[in-house]
Amino acid sequence: MKVTKVDLAHVAVKREQYPKTRYPEIALSGRSNVGKSSFINKMINRKGLARTSQRPGKTQTLNFYEINEQLYFVDVPGYGFARAPKPEREAWGRMIENYLEDREVLKAVVQLVDLRHAPSADDKMMYKWLKHFEIPVILVATKCDKIPKGKWQKHLKIIEKDLEKVESDPLLLFSSETAQGKEQVWKTIQYYIQN
Ligand code: GTP
Ligand code: MG
Repeated sequence: MKVTKVDLAHVAVKREQYPKTRYPEIALSGRSNVGKSSFINKMINRKGLARTSQRPGKTQTLNFYEINEQLYFVDVPGYGFARAPKPEREAWGRMIENYLEDREVLKAVVQLVDLRHAPSADDKMMYKWLKHFEIPVILVATKCDKIPKGKWQKHLKIIEKDLEKVESDPLLLFSSETAQGKEQVWKTIQYYIQN
């Protein structure tokens, strides 16, 4: 997909602040620091639009990026960020659940996992939860630039097995460094927003 127009359209912490324009939405999910904001930037060719950081917990609100007046990417705060104070963590949890649980225009969640590691307990819980609510998930194994190509398939197998991935959910390779997988991920997203 050729991205010609991008806007950080809405920053939300509650329902009233979600966009009123009914474009299809694709939300990003994954543990803190896995690379959600970097993924968005690479997909839309804007280096610093979604704020990234080496310190986990950078994204703390629901950030809606409007793309080509056609869809929204929703950058969501990462889970499993232990250093944040508990009340804050609980508030984020509620904010994310409220959004994911009943958003009719949500077409799929891109759940990012780190290709290098077996899925964490939080990764597994999140995926289970999304499946419980029957939300289509596009699993994206990111940071593939960090391990040699010859090991990719082996790592993908571990992710697939540990998450108990359902057959209908795709699992794709990605790198925000090299843009590996970008076209395939766009094709997949387009499929979900048309259905
Ligand atoms: P939170 O907002 O805290 O939830 O984090 P996030 O998931 O948005 O992560 P972010 O995009 O801020 O990236 C975290 C760190 O990982 C940054 O230092 C990025 O440069 C790095 N990073 C992200 N994606 C990749 C990738 O594909 N390859 C490599 N090598 N580094 C990456
Ligand atoms: Mg982020």
